[in-house]
Amino acid sequence: MAERVLRELRYHLLLCDEAGDFCGCQAAGAAEFRTALRRALAERGLARFVKTTIMTCNQPRARGPVLVVYPDGIWYDGLTVEDIPRFLDEQILAGRPLEDKLLRRPLVTGQTAY
Ligand code: FES
Repeated sequence: MAERVLRELRYHLLLCDEAGDFCGCQAAGAAEFRTALRRALAERGLARFVKTTIMTCNQPRARGPVLVVYPDGIWYDGLTVEDIPRFLDEQILAGRPLEDKLLRRPLVTGQTAY
């Protein structure tokens, strides 16, 4: 079973969901986004190709929610529930990142993203 899952798996999405003054993911609706994304993946028959995992904070001081696409190494910041159909069509099915939602630059402690 595990071998079949790994053979079919194309993407692993890491979604963070923490609160606190270091990050905005929970306040930006990370839980609602994650639930809607998982539902959309299942409804479109993509769940066996795309694994989702909740992570602790990926990028302090990001707007959130932050989503990392592996193995491609693409980082998103600020995706909303309304973006999910476009995210699935473009990023997941066509392999084209959503340029307007990318986390453009890595942050270091003490910087703000926006
Ligand atoms: S909890 Fe999402 S970037 Fe920190």
